[in-house]
Amino acid sequence: MTDPGPFEIRGRTAVVTGAGSGIGEGLARALAAEGCSVVVSDVEGDRAAAVAADIGPSALGVRTDVADRDSVAELAAAARDRFGAVHLLFNNAGVSYHRRGIHATYEDWQWVLGVNLWGVVHGVTEFLPAMLESGEDCHIVNTASMNGIVPSAHSAMYSASKYGVVGLTETLHNELQGTRVGVTALCPAGVTTRITDSVRNRPDWAAQADGTRPPHAPSSSFDISPPLQPAEVAQLTLDGVRNRALYVFTDPKVQALLEAHHATMLAAFAPLTAAAAG
Ligand SMILES: NC(=O)c1ccc[n+]([C@@H]2O[C@H](COP(=O)([O-])OP(=O)(O)OC[C@H]3O[C@@H](n4cnc5c(N)ncnc54)[C@H](O)[C@@H]3O)[C@@H](O)[C@H]2O)c1
Repeated sequence: MTDPGPFEIRGRTAVVTGAGSGIGEGLARALAAEGCSVVVSDVEGDRAAAVAADIGPSALGVRTDVADRDSVAELAAAARDRFGAVHLLFNNAGVSYHRRGIHATYEDWQWVLGVNLWGVVHGVTEFLPAMLESGEDCHIVNTASMNGIVPSAHSAMYSASKYGVVGLTETLHNELQGTRVGVTALCPAGVTTRITDSVRNRPDWAAQADGTRPPHAPSSSFDISPPLQPAEVAQLTLDGVRNRALYVFTDPKVQALLEAHHATMLAAFAPLTAAAAG
């Protein structure tokens, strides 16, 4: 296929999950500013409605639980009914729950993987077929994290989910070559959002056996830059979509972490290299 050039965002229809707050809200507002019709989706239905109302008639607020496939199917139907074909999907909803992996319960795992990984699976499964059939330029952004490439402390569940998102996104990127659908893994570092209060949306079925909801543990001793604002991350992300980038990072300091991480992995090849050399 010939080089399709930059992706034209203006005037498209976009769906953003987790858009009641933080990065998702920033994306929804940035897309609206680009003249897109935007479906503002969140498990906090009142927040989705408030952000959509503030954007105006080009936005629709929808309550969606991305961990529930039926709920994501309803989101796809609501978007289609209101705006027609969807060209941009931001699988952004996510929760962070830093707790030592050795102490994690099945409920911890099910909640975090249900939102962060299954949420993306549901979005891709419900929206991608229509994008491919439309024959139009379309793009999916999956919000992973720097924890999808370098795990920080106490992030077993979060990093497992985000590694899954990166792996899924890279695989889709390969499978979608030759089509008009592109895909991006958004890998932010620090962003000022409500992510550390994710437990506010932890479902009752996932409560601890004793009824408590353990607090967020400290997550990182990494040397990363001060957190960005969601609007800044939204602009970096839209630039990535225009460039049809596979990855979007938000902090140059992550490069050194990634290099050190990969150096450790590459060092594990030394015995094989030595054996092959005889
Ligand atoms: N803030 C950061 O530093 C940072 C860094 C890397 C990655 N991320 C990722 O960015 C994404 C957005 O998070 P944020 O930082 O804006 O946090 P946030 O808490 O401000 O926003 C997340 C939104 O997701 C919604 N949500 C939670 N569970 C949901 C569910 N089951 N279904 C639908 N919506 C649900 C929340 O209500 C909230 O509005 C997440 O995937 C997160 O993992 C954040």
